[in-house]
Amino acid sequence: MINFPEKLSLAQTPTPLQPLDRLSDELGGPRIWVKRDDMTGCAISGNKVRKLEFVLAQALAEGADTLITCGGIQSNHCRATAILGAQLGLKVHLILRGTPPDELDGNLLLDHLTAARVSYYPVTEYQHLDTLFNQWQLHYRNQGHHPFIIPTGASNGTGAWGYINCARELADDFSHHQITPSVIVSATGSGGTQAGLTLGAHLFQLNALVLGMAVCDDADYFIRKVREDMRDWQQQSSVSLDIEKIEIHVNDQYIGPGYAKATPEIFSTIRQLAALEGVILDPVYSGKAFHGLLQEIRAGQFDDASDIVFIHTGGLFGLFSQRNQLGLS
Ligand SMILES: Cc1ncc(COP(=O)(O)O)c(C=O)c1O
Repeated sequence: MINFPEKLSLAQTPTPLQPLDRLSDELGGPRIWVKRDDMTGCAISGNKVRKLEFVLAQALAEGADTLITCGGIQSNHCRATAILGAQLGLKVHLILRGTPPDELDGNLLLDHLTAARVSYYPVTEYQHLDTLFNQWQLHYRNQGHHPFIIPTGASNGTGAWGYINCARELADDFSHHQITPSVIVSATGSGGTQAGLTLGAHLFQLNALVLGMAVCDDADYFIRKVREDMRDWQQQSSVSLDIEKIEIHVNDQYIGPGYAKATPEIFSTIRQLAALEGVILDPVYSGKAFHGLLQEIRAGQFDDASDIVFIHTGGLFGLFSQRNQLGLS
């Protein structure tokens, strides 16, 4: 029996687990299933809301009235925090990496629409994120507010509970569909989703390898980061699990030109899945990871698998700011 900490009820869960039969037939490989975490909500869709259910419960328990968090200009995490902050009546301050764009688009449009305060920092300043967090925390405290800092992507020990919870859902999904997938694949950007899934796969005995497809940094970085989140989780949980023995699997072969930069092949995979299955991916996270998965299947890496699960972590709004690269007229 695993005692979950307090959480808010913010996500539409359980999300469906759906087979991609036409694509699987076309590939002639294992059956691919999609865990539709892009359906955790409408404007707050995606993986972040699962983590924020636990992180925001902690913020409220500590009496926070202001959330401070960070990310890229088109951060899905920042958008989810901005909208949830508005829903909960909390002030939100976003520290964004980069310079203000000429036009508000995608996630950034929604950040502004929900009246989150936005501060932009060039990469050289953003590197000193802890200093920026400390400065703004002090600023709000001096004004009599109670700020609460949420780390990049809400990836820490508390956020990990979100995907432990998802693993619990997957256990039910697998028994409902009577499948035993050998691999669970998702995009890895700040590590928390993978940390939660990896822990959850052990806790709920899914007997599946959890594979993170890196979208920015290399495998060594993510293996360290996921382990760090798992240790942070262990410190605050009463569950007995030898986390040091758990293997962490990251594939960093499909990052392409860099974070938020996708190759024409990735845009082509996005178009293919949209047309064939009506499932919409994004070029920063889910499209990159899914493209990597298809390449690995084509290369025969999963020839032994009968079923594979792809966690669709959302990211739809990030597609709009890159619309010109889709090759549609
Ligand atoms: C749409 C989407 N998918 C996947 C990820 C990766 O999740 P994580 O940050 O937990 O590694 C993110 C955020 O980074 C995201 O916004």
